[in-house]
Amino acid sequence: MTTVGIDKACFYSSHYFLDLKTLAEARGVDVEKFYTGLGQRKMAVSPPDEGVVTLAANAAHELLKDVDLSTIDTLMFATESGVDHSKATGIFVHKLLDLPPHCRVVELKQACYSATFGLQMAMSRLRENPKHKVLLIAADIARYGLGTSGESSQGGGACAMLLTANPRLLSIDPIAGFYTEDVMDFWRPHYREEALVDGKYSIEVYLKALAKAWEHYQTQVIEAKQPDSQYQDFQQFLFHIPIPKLAEKAYQKLTKLNKSPVNTTDAQAFLEPSLQYAREIGNCYTASLYIGLVSLLENHPDNLANQRVGLYSYGSGCMAEFFSGTIQPHYQQVLHTQFHRNLLDNRQELTQAEYEKFYTFEYPTDGSHVELPEYQTGQFRLSHLTDHKRVYQKARLGATAKAPGKLILSGEHSVVLGAPALATSIDLYTTTVISKHSLPGLVFDLVNIKHQNTHSAEALKLLKDKIKNKYTRFQQGEISIKQVLKKPFELAAYTASNAIDKFTQKEPKPNLHIHTDSQIPTGCGLGSSAAVIVSTNLALAEMLGKTPTEDELKALNIDAENLQHGQSSGLDVFLSMTGGTYYVQGETKTRLPHWGRKITLINTGTPTSATGECVAHTKAIFNQKPALLNQFAEITEQMHQAWQAQDLKLLKQAIKTNHQLLIQIGVVPDKIQALIEQIESHGGAAKICGAGAISGHAAGMVWVEGAEDFVKTLPHEILTVTPTEDGAKIV
Ligand code: CAA
Repeated sequence: MTTVGIDKACFYSSHYFLDLKTLAEARGVDVEKFYTGLGQRKMAVSPPDEGVVTLAANAAHELLKDVDLSTIDTLMFATESGVDHSKATGIFVHKLLDLPPHCRVVELKQACYSATFGLQMAMSRLRENPKHKVLLIAADIARYGLGTSGESSQGGGACAMLLTANPRLLSIDPIAGFYTEDVMDFWRPHYREEALVDGKYSIEVYLKALAKAWEHYQTQVIEAKQPDSQYQDFQQFLFHIPIPKLAEKAYQKLTKLNKSPVNTTDAQAFLEPSLQYAREIGNCYTASLYIGLVSLLENHPDNLANQRVGLYSYGSGCMAEFFSGTIQPHYQQVLHTQFHRNLLDNRQELTQAEYEKFYTFEYPTDGSHVELPEYQTGQFRLSHLTDHKRVYQKARLGATAKAPGKLILSGEHSVVLGAPALATSIDLYTTTVISKHSLPGLVFDLVNIKHQNTHSAEALKLLKDKIKNKYTRFQQGEISIKQVLKKPFELAAYTASNAIDKFTQKEPKPNLHIHTDSQIPTGCGLGSSAAVIVSTNLALAEMLGKTPTEDELKALNIDAENLQHGQSSGLDVFLSMTGGTYYVQGETKTRLPHWGRKITLINTGTPTSATGECVAHTKAIFNQKPALLNQFAEITEQMHQAWQAQDLKLLKQAIKTNHQLLIQIGVVPDKIQALIEQIESHGGAAKICGAGAISGHAAGMVWVEGAEDFVKTLPHEILTVTPTEDGAKIV
């Protein structure tokens, strides 16, 4: 006969947990009552935008990574935490997982037992038609209420199982023993969010039902003449785990019933591998038994292949079942051990206040629209409720934006006074990667300036206000632009915190990790500040699910760039946002045909004077010698023509003339003039690109055409860039 059973199993639980020592302290209880008396150390706590749908979808998403989804024709969702009295919770999951439309979806309910019913139904079906594949998900969040005796046995999680013929994890036997009795040990009336429980009585019934189900199982074994299913044939036992201690008591009861009693210590040691995950997560109702199975297979030090397992499933109310199976020969190959360990190792501990805040979150019941605060919920989240409907979505785990640098070919300085300019974006990029973070605030990892630090929302707000205030003082002529941003990281910090404030009005602000890495040398006139700003704002918009218009993004970008340059011309930001080469005249920017020729740049070092200072200096000169402005306009026009015609000779001539004009406005230091003279004497042409400098010896980048052999002998850094058509984008 074809074997049928669990082919793979994977669980997911919340990113957040409460250590029961925190609860014990808050409730004035000895922590050993929880740690030792219940055998429970921590409990998973779901944030408001998590629930059985997202827990289930996360578990199944991982489970199905290497499975052809079109082969799944049934999704059974076992839960007692359903989100609708009518609609099957699994239909939300079906959509999130992109399961095929010709897939049956149903919800099963009988307290913590229903997943076992789903498993057995699927087994019958698979025995008849081994081609089918069934996705069974058990998911629950255990809630008893703040300050109740059940509070310490809460938790939550989901276990997804792929049920197939010829399973690789656990085959399931055809026989089982059941027991049903109408009792009120644990229940949840429709009007309540929390379960009601008669704790001691529930334990009594759980243990009684175990004896009854086992008894029935044994009669079935005898009737079916099934070998290997007596007590002594089982090497492993698994029990429903409302609290780990009860599973140990259940094992002791079973051993006693079978006349080979074990003491408490032996019971604990025997069950330990199957209880490890439960001790960390707490009760997951329908999923508990199956998380216990995963725990056994992943944590038992021995090879369990071919071992017989007896499983006890219990659902209050009550319905119990004892059934059995065999661990398959190569089960280790289909485990998700690393995924589970990572999940549990990287959780965030909550304070008592944070736990209670999550716990008491009130969802609207009047159909109003509520956007849910965003927490770490894995791949999926409950985004909002509207018109009495729940809207789930794939969670944004991260966003990456790339923005290019730029090169002013001609017209630097004169452009500020309305003369034309020729400029291009270049293939050096700044990349900003935004991801979620569990620590409060923003974590900056700014590679180029070696800044790695966490800044709380409050600290960032203070910094932003301070910078704004200083900028106003700069505008009033009280301080220089260099005094506005005191430390290099402040530009990124201001940009990010300003964008987050613009994009999200909700409190608390999201906790994010911002990683920025740039190929663009800083302070050399290649638009490194603009690229940092543009990539940060774009990545943040994407991460926060916003779609600002070009104008809104531009305004944000320029607002930040002003802090660096005093009064941004907007050109760096424009080139970084759009890409391409442009002839710029006032507000009109004409895109030029792409000329993909390599441009050689000599890095003469960061100028000691700021761009803003240079601009102020040149403005005065242009005022004294207005004719210079026309000469700049003419030379830009000449270079424009050279570019359009891709005429290198004309281009070189224009570069030489442009250099002479730049000397006249005082932005080419003597040392750089001498360098360019040498280049010219070797048959080349060169000019500074960018603001240049009004003091010191360095002037940022010098663009050189020709004199290749001489350039190679220079001690400076030489860069080769190519004009690019690509502007900032999400990658
Ligand atoms: N040091 C060590 N041990 C201590 C201790 C201390 N300082 N203080 C108390 N303990 C021990 C007690 O002796 C007791 O152990 P025993 O049961 O072995 O005697 C254990 O800690 C628990 O103490 P209490 O019985 O006093 O605890 P409680 O009254 O607060 O309730 C509970 C415990 C009934 C499990 C309660 O948490 C509860 O109601 N939980 C929800 C219901 C539940 O889980 N029922 C299980 C069966 S129903 C089911 O299985 C379905 C389902 O999933 C819900």
